[in-house]
Amino acid sequence: MKQPVLVTAAWPYANAFIHVGNLSGAYLPADIFARYQRLKGRDTLFVSGTDAHGTPITVRADDEKTTPEVIYKRYHESFLDMQQKVGISYDLFTSTHTENHFKVSQDIFLALQENGYLYKATEKQWYAPSQEKFLPDRYVEGTCYICGYDNARGDQCDKCGNLLDPEKLINPRSKIDGSTPELRETEHFYLDLGKLQNRVVDFLKSREDYWRPNVIRQSLGQILAEDLHGRAITRDLEWGIPVPVQDAVGKCLYVWFEAVIGYLSASIEWAKLQGTPDIWKDWWEDDTCKSYYFIGKDNIPFHAVIWPAQLIGTGTKFGVYFEGKENKPFVLPFDVPANEFMNLEGKKISGSRNWAIYVNDFLERYDPDPLRYYLTVNMPESQDTDWDWEDFLKRNNNELVATWGNLANRVISFANKHWGQVPDPGTLEMEDQDLIDTIESGFLTVGDEYEAVHLRAALAETMRLATEVNRYLDIAAPWQLIKTDKEAAGRKIYTALQAINNLKVLFSPVLPFTSQKLHNMLGYSSNLFGEQVIKTVEDNLGEHRVNTYDASEAIGSWQPAELPVGQKFGEVCPLFKKLDTSIVDEERARLG
Ligand code: MF3
Ligand code: ZN
Repeated sequence: MKQPVLVTAAWPYANAFIHVGNLSGAYLPADIFARYQRLKGRDTLFVSGTDAHGTPITVRADDEKTTPEVIYKRYHESFLDMQQKVGISYDLFTSTHTENHFKVSQDIFLALQENGYLYKATEKQWYAPSQEKFLPDRYVEGTCYICGYDNARGDQCDKCGNLLDPEKLINPRSKIDGSTPELRETEHFYLDLGKLQNRVVDFLKSREDYWRPNVIRQSLGQILAEDLHGRAITRDLEWGIPVPVQDAVGKCLYVWFEAVIGYLSASIEWAKLQGTPDIWKDWWEDDTCKSYYFIGKDNIPFHAVIWPAQLIGTGTKFGVYFEGKENKPFVLPFDVPANEFMNLEGKKISGSRNWAIYVNDFLERYDPDPLRYYLTVNMPESQDTDWDWEDFLKRNNNELVATWGNLANRVISFANKHWGQVPDPGTLEMEDQDLIDTIESGFLTVGDEYEAVHLRAALAETMRLATEVNRYLDIAAPWQLIKTDKEAAGRKIYTALQAINNLKVLFSPVLPFTSQKLHNMLGYSSNLFGEQVIKTVEDNLGEHRVNTYDASEAIGSWQPAELPVGQKFGEVCPLFKKLDTSIVDEERARLG
């Protein structure tokens, strides 16, 4: 194995379409990072899937008087479609409603039980007398007992980010009918986080000096302030994964307990689909593997504390259930680069108030790369950011079109017109070699930013290099030189073409579609990246559709390359479209 890297993105709940905030929060940064890792030649596995269970889906099904299965399939299908159109290159995007995921989740449960990290307890849960059933956490809302926010969910407060003890919620009300629930006894399995605390703290301390401060604050910081205690991992629910013990009829695994296990089960499913069922171990049992979990800030406790606790607690016993012999300990998360939120025109994005830009809808009017570009320059890596239509317009026109697109277009068109191929430069002058060296050094400077998961900085550095080429051309002025000295003009154009050919790769994690287009314009017929393929897979739960990534034709590589003298160009066309200022008002009018 060449340096295994596991890249994951949060699993979207199958109850809403994906909006630009979701995309910039988790899926896009994960994709950019995975593309960079593949270009580096590392063995990259990028997995995720649809979070099909839990009350977000059943609430929606109840609202629409249909089944959770119908709801989950509808949104899952829209996710696959979105990923194809915007280029999220999952090696496998599956779902939690598969036979494989059921088995892996149940096996983790059994391993935790065997290792003594589960206990049963009777606790009080909210019960709705009006409906004669227990209300899952999400069906209960009330006031947060930590920060006073009055719209907290039963299990988590969206304001202060804390996980909540459902029964401590102040002024609880049922989400179904607004009635006041009462506390009744029910028996559940608990994950004994108290017993795992020391090992979780050791794990977090070993990550403390490089994790983002917001992630450390919401994990290590919180545990040091307040000890971990057991958390119920089963629920009184019908839609989900049955608890794998005899006397747990009508109970399911808690959606958060099993959804995070999806990272492991998806890797196992991918390995099976490849026809090499054991190969998932190269990412999960090899401690040189670096795993990166791209998520939004509301998901931090589950990924930075509870998932590592599940992995630690499972130890080597998963293998006993899974294949009859103990496995090696699991690799723990190397980084959990959680993003803050993206707002829209100064307000929080909200589907119910139609204050949102849905990705599929956006792509009916615009191309994917301008979206990827804007979401990356504006990525909420360290604080909340804002989508502003005027800013989108300006950055598209002044940066993408003016600085990068026009540069590529102008140089290739000019070269095509006067030479019909990459011109022979003769002997390069110092300023020519300097430019080539500057752009080539981008593989180190931009690369360093990617290594540190600073995607905004990586893109800013790439754009800075593009302006260097513009500056070079302003001085070299081959458009003038051609009139008096065609050979010198050819040298300048050759130099600019080399720069553009390398910039194409430096831009490609963020701009995969237009980089490929540029690659073809430069006269190559190969593919920088692989291809996304939707497949239908069958198991005992029925059919399910997945996105996969076929890398067999991909040739892109994160290193300087030389565009050969004499290479003929492909068809030359603009990479980006200049947008009219009228779109700002048009788009704003769609909101609200
Ligand atoms: N479905 C959750 C959300 O949208 C995220 C789950 S991430 C997982 O907030 F790893 F747990 F699946
Ligand atoms: Zn709160």
